[in-house]
Amino acid sequence: MTTVAPGSPASAGPPGAAARLEASGVTVRFGGLVALDGVDLAVPPGAVVGLVGPNGAGKSTLFAVLSGLLRPDAGRVRMGGEDVTRASAAARARRGLARTFQRPELFAGLTVRDHVVLADRVRRRGGGILRDLVTGGGFRRPSAAEDERVAAIIESLHLEDLQDREVSGLPLGACRLVEVARALATGPEVLLLDEPTSGLDGRETAELAATLRRVNADHGVSLLLVEHDVELVLGMCETVHVLDFGAMIRTGPPAEIRSDPAVRAAYLGAEPPPDPAQEGGQEEESR
Ligand SMILES: Nc1ncnc2c1ncn2[C@@H]1O[C@H](COP(=O)(O)OP(=O)(O)OP(=O)(O)O)[C@@H](O)[C@H]1O
Ligand SMILES: [Mg+2]
Repeated sequence: MTTVAPGSPASAGPPGAAARLEASGVTVRFGGLVALDGVDLAVPPGAVVGLVGPNGAGKSTLFAVLSGLLRPDAGRVRMGGEDVTRASAAARARRGLARTFQRPELFAGLTVRDHVVLADRVRRRGGGILRDLVTGGGFRRPSAAEDERVAAIIESLHLEDLQDREVSGLPLGACRLVEVARALATGPEVLLLDEPTSGLDGRETAELAATLRRVNADHGVSLLLVEHDVELVLGMCETVHVLDFGAMIRTGPPAEIRSDPAVRAAYLGAEPPPDPAQEGGQEEESR
């Protein structure tokens, strides 16, 4: 079993094993409030890593630091072993980082499909998109190849029936799927998901979880998943981090997290949730 112990980020290994994304000693203060206190977290290549913690623990703040929206007061962020602490969000996106937001951040007047097409063009053509906006090229019809890529992503998220609808009229659950679709269209190496299943019903949650597993397994995209659905996190992730009042109180494999008294006291409640490993055998092995 591969575990990432606190204070031993993955980039401590040989250069080839550098984490795709890593925070070390990250501290953020909002006035007198210490929102993050020397936090370490690593997302190794191909890994699915979970981040859980009560409301206000600092999860979204850590996402803001990792994605370049917030500069930490102390600590470092690295991608592939390279320091990106001072790199902009756009520069990190170009290096293969994509994210979704806790509250979907979509363009009201555009359709579902438009969102995916635009993200695909940004990936393929980078700054050329800005030139298109001036020359009018930005509104050209998608090419056949573009159509094919976009259709594949829309299909994988089961958004076919909604693809021509403007996102402003869609329920929250559908908006979350659009956010994930848009993020995937940028061809990320690491995808940060901030509560992707909140607002989804049971069926949508199961579908999204299956899609994310495919994205990870088939395309090798590393995932960092913030979720209040703890069972989803424990079932999907090989390493789970537990944040409490800005401090990373535990890091380990799901079985360890599930049975940890401090984690249960801080977050899971007094009753230990049932452990599927006791019933159906332990499937979670190292990759
Ligand atoms: N821009 C800000 N200015 C001041 N305080 C902030 C700011 N952003 C977050 N905080 C505070 O920092 C702490 C961590 O907030 P954060 O949103 O990161 O928590 P979270 O773990 O994502 O919570 P939730 O599960 O509710 O989404 C909270 O006490 C929050 O009120
Ligand atoms: Mg949050």
